[in-house]
Amino acid sequence: MNDIQEVLLDEQSIASKVRELGERISHDYAGRDLMLVCILKGAITFTADLMRKIEIPATLDFIQPSSYGNAAVSSRKITLKKDIEADVAGRHVLLVDCIIDTGETMDFLMKRLRDRGPASMEGAVLLDKRSRRVVDVPVKYIGFEIPDRFVVGYGLDYAQKYRTLPYVAVVRT
Ligand code: IMP
Ligand code: MG
Repeated sequence: MNDIQEVLLDEQSIASKVRELGERISHDYAGRDLMLVCILKGAITFTADLMRKIEIPATLDFIQPSSYGNAAVSSRKITLKKDIEADVAGRHVLLVDCIIDTGETMDFLMKRLRDRGPASMEGAVLLDKRSRRVVDVPVKYIGFEIPDRFVVGYGLDYAQKYRTLPYVAVVRT
């Protein structure tokens, strides 16, 4: 695709990182009631791959914050577009997102769910743009730290495009 400037992470590197994260999570949550919460829409690919590398029982739910906007710039007003259906009280919740940027989305969602009394609350992200962090939200499972560039693919979009790409790439914006 000629809109793609550079492939940052290919399918193989992603797959081996996802396997590694799945092993860590399986180990850390052994014997616990694990609830995976996929942050729509971006985390759909990561969650689908990650959950198949988690070797302990887990449930799956979906949550959707208000849209990041149609461009590489955010509007920074976060609301809940879709809430999870299950009760989190007493459960070990793992919030899964594809990327953490300013940290505001993860922070907002963690606070919302924490109010409902989970037994524990952690985050898992494939990509971390650490240099952009505004809110100091602790994320336990991080795949790759990446530079401050707008990336697409593996679930991530630019104006709703490129989500279906199997790799992570920098797009010409
Ligand atoms: P944060 O609230 O600033 O941490 O942003 C997190 C959300 O912004 C993610 O769930 C993505 O939807 C979106 N986002 C941040 N950076 C990128 C990017 O480089 N490409 C695509 N989406 C991004
Ligand atoms: Mg988006």
